[in-house]
Amino acid sequence: MTDVDVVVVGAGVTGLTVANRLHAAGRRVVVLEARDRVGGRLLTEDHEGVRLEVGGQWVSPDQTALLALLDELGLEMYSRYRAGESIYIGRDGVRRTFEGEKFPVSAGTAAEVERLVKEMDRLAAQMDPLEPWEHPDAEELDRISFAAWLAGQTDDPEARDNVGLYVGPAMLTKPAHSFSALSAVLMAASAGGFSHLVDADFILDRRVVGGLQRVPLALAARLPDGAVHLDEAVTKVEWTDGGATVLTGRGSYQGRHVVLAVPPTLVSRVQYVPALPPVQAQMRQHISFGLVIKLHVTYETPFWRELGLSGTAFSPYSLVHEAYDNTNEDVEGETRGTLVGFVSDVKADALLALDPETRKRRVLEALAAYYGEQALTPVHYYESPWMADEWTVGAFGTSFDIGSLTRYGRHLRSDVGPLAFASSDIAGLGFQHVDGAIRMGEAVAARILDQ
Ligand code: FDA
Repeated sequence: MTDVDVVVVGAGVTGLTVANRLHAAGRRVVVLEARDRVGGRLLTEDHEGVRLEVGGQWVSPDQTALLALLDELGLEMYSRYRAGESIYIGRDGVRRTFEGEKFPVSAGTAAEVERLVKEMDRLAAQMDPLEPWEHPDAEELDRISFAAWLAGQTDDPEARDNVGLYVGPAMLTKPAHSFSALSAVLMAASAGGFSHLVDADFILDRRVVGGLQRVPLALAARLPDGAVHLDEAVTKVEWTDGGATVLTGRGSYQGRHVVLAVPPTLVSRVQYVPALPPVQAQMRQHISFGLVIKLHVTYETPFWRELGLSGTAFSPYSLVHEAYDNTNEDVEGETRGTLVGFVSDVKADALLALDPETRKRRVLEALAAYYGEQALTPVHYYESPWMADEWTVGAFGTSFDIGSLTRYGRHLRSDVGPLAFASSDIAGLGFQHVDGAIRMGEAVAARILDQ
């Protein structure tokens, strides 16, 4: 049996942040990771000679915890390519180009979108994202789906579809009828306001040279040799008020504290002896992962740039609701161009029901509607596999079903005896983002050091 001060379960950014902060303060830590690598939802991989960021990749200016860590680790960033016009396909099926962040819709729709964005900004400004249940309208907003809330705000379907897009397919990756208006406000508040979510140049601002997975790799490298155990899925935690024994298929680890640095959905996959208190077990049955397929499509050249296009494309009515130029500007001599696109929620269900060749054809046809016929002939095509990966089972992150944020949210970050819970999915600022993972990791480490 290995005896340490703190056993950390999960070597994503959250777990590695906890371990780093505790190690720096002189605590003995061990990190147990189910996968054969560190990084969790961050993964930079070479696929047939194309380097891809399979999971998280973008850094935005509001993510100050991540920016500070990048600085601490000496990692550099570069801007996403964004020169030229963007593309929008409207409800009428017509493709239009535009500049700036406002979609080229009718004047009436544009006014409605602006009004709704202002209203969402107002609601988000009233919320501390760490305590959404304290919002003055929390009860009311948590009882109604975001889709129903939008329908109550405007009769303009294209305005609803566009505002719904920013939170539904693009962020929580669930249909807007399946999460509450309060969850939508939380998403906005966690990013510093709804206006940030609608501004792709803000929210998808920069990338890390070499890929965002360099963050967990660098954090792991700062721990003592042997502190991170790969291929060790935790199956059971036996606990008392004084400490816990953590069991994997390969060993057992005794700690005064245990940090479950895994998404809330995976907390429940571990057996606890004694069982977790009822509210803890109930709560996590009301949390689920969203579903989004992140697509990387690489071409011989970034042909859209020659057409005066930035590569940015949106349409609530397309299979691929958003797409961007994702060319690796940091790879010397790179002449190919890569587009990244997303297929979300019910559209992802339908796509996943098809065979791989049909899926690819449907995606390329959707891209061709944005960028023209050249989009039909890529040199490389890749779909991120998170929804079938047993140590994530979805993407990007998890969120509550309707009514549950007010019912259970306040228990999310409560410790149970020596057990603490942390992940980007239960963050306030940086919710569902790497920034939130760092904030949660730092908060848990500080709490343990205080005891
Ligand atoms: P994470 O899930 O990364 O880590 C948990 C770890 O626990 C995993 O390594 C898992 O294997 C391990 N584990 C689980 N159960 C275990 C058990 N029983 N025993 C041992 N280990 C166990 N964010 C962002 O900031 N910018 C972006 O652009 C994006 N984009 C994006 C795209 C895609 C496709 C995805 C999937 C995600 C993003 N994100 C993102 C979100 C971001 O990647 C995510 O919020 C953080 O990486 C989560 O870090 P955590 O450490 O909290 O969880």
